[in-house]
Formats: sequence, C-alpha cells, structure tokens
Amino acid sequence: MRLILLGPPGAGKGTQAQQLCARYDIPHISTGDMLRDQVLEKTALGRKARRFMAQGKLVPDEVILAMVAERFQKPDIANGFLLDGFPRTVAQAVGLTSLLEAAHLELDAILAITIDAEVLVSRLSARRTCSNCKTIYNLIAQPPKREGICDVCSGTNLVQRDDDQPNTIRARIEVYERQTLPLLSYYRPMGKLLEVSGQGSVAEVQERVQATLPPAKETD
Ligand code: AP5
Repeated sequence: MRLILLGPPGAGKGTQAQQLCARYDIPHISTGDMLRDQVLEKTALGRKARRFMAQGKLVPDEVILAMVAERFQKPDIANGFLLDGFPRTVAQAVGLTSLLEAAHLELDAILAITIDAEVLVSRLSARRTCSNCKTIYNLIAQPPKREGICDVCSGTNLVQRDDDQPNTIRARIEVYERQTLPLLSYYRPMGKLLEVSGQGSVAEVQERVQATLPPAKETD
C-alpha cells in the first residue's frame, strides 16, 4: 500500500497512521516527525526548520523534497509507505510525482480526513506525545492508562509540542487552508482521492478509515 494521508492539523492523521501502518505493515513517513528529530539533534536542517515551525509556517519546499528524496533511498519502502504531512503544497506534490515516476512506483490512494476547524484547537491543546516511541495521546479523549506513562514503551516523557499553542494552531490551520487544500484539486483527477470524516471518537474514525481503504493483502 502506497498511501498519502491529508488533513488539517489535529485531524487525526498521526493517530490513524499508527493503526494503518500496523495493518499494512508499512513505514510511517511523517515529515513533521522527521523535522522535529532534526530540531532536537540541532542539525543545520533543524536550525533552519525551527523558526518556520515555531510560527506555524511551512518549511520551504526544496528542504522538504530533499529530505523525502533521501528517505526514499531506504529499502523499507519496498512494500509501500504511508506519507503523513507530505505533500503539503502543489510544488511538493509535483516533486513527489517525479520521485515516484523515477522509482516506477504508483500511489494506491490519497485519503483526506475532513473535519470542522473548531474541534482542532481543543484537540491539539490537549495532545501529548511520547518522546521515546512517538505514540500520540490526548489528555481528554485518549489519555494514557497510567498518568504520565506511555502505554506502549513505559516512557515517562509525554511532551507537548511547541507548536500546539492556540495562536500557532490557528496559524497552522490558516496555512493548511491556503497552501494544502489545493492539493485536493491536484489529486482528484487521478481518481484515487478518498475522503473520510474525522469527527467522532478515534475508534469511530478508525472504523470509517478501514471501511474506505482496501483490506491488507494476505502474506504467504
Ligand atoms: P506536522 O507534524 O505534520 O503537523 P500537522 O500536519 O499540523 O498535523 P498534526 O501532527 O498536528 O495533527 P494530526 O492530524 O497528525 O493529529 P493527531 O493524530 O496527532 O507538521 C508540523 C510542522 O512541521 C508544520 O507546521 C510545518 O512547519 C512543518 N512541516 C511538516 N511537514 C511539512 C511539509 N511537508 N512541508 C513544509 N513544512 C512541513 O491528533 C491530534 C490530537 O487529537 C491528539 O491528541 C490525538 O490523541 C487527538 N485525536 C486524534 N483523533 C481524535 C478523535 N477522533 N477524537 C478525539 N481526539 C482525537
């Protein structure tokens, strides 16, 4: 399965990606996670990206495309991949098309999660992420079983992202509407664009997502 997840900040892309990657046994390629790792490691790329991320703006296309092209060199994409948070501009989508053509690969589906903007600020304000294994929680809707402890790896560092402050969240939503929504018109003519509502509980959205996408292939 070669899949793109599209949707505004807080739509639940990362949350659904965790389930989908397990279901299809494919790597989760999140440009946001990759950039945050670079910021933490204080690399040149991380230092450059940090000021854009802190303001809720997009990191320049050429930086992102170079980072994804390098990621595509890893052998784990042979059985497919899930792209989360990429592409985010038409220029990135065009760059991805070229990358895929060069590798003789085709996308199977582009899944857009749609949701009302007013839900997003409260969802993101309550998000916490395990700094060790990146499992996503929500203090209201999806808290860890033991307060402050990751259910998956027992890590004790559940952190709030720097860009999950109300003003930055609003800036990110605006950027999404202006720069990323046009991607729907880019992908619709391909006939592989699927849309699912992100309203309701995590389990309800998961059920809709599962019903929309094809089942995982049986392995021998
Ligand atoms: P990125 O990390 O990609 O963030 P985003 O797209 O803004 O999306 P989020 O991760 O905030 O939301 P999500 O949809 O994954 O929601 P989640 O599942 O976590 O990008 C961050 C920044 O990096 C960008 O602003 C930009 O600067 C830069 N960047 C990244 N990629 C780039 C690119 N390609 N080009 C340029 N710049 C780039 O869920 C959110 C919360 O809601 C969680 O607490 C979760 O538990 C909860 N939740 C999820 N589903 C539900 C539900 N159904 N009901 C209740 N709560 C729910």
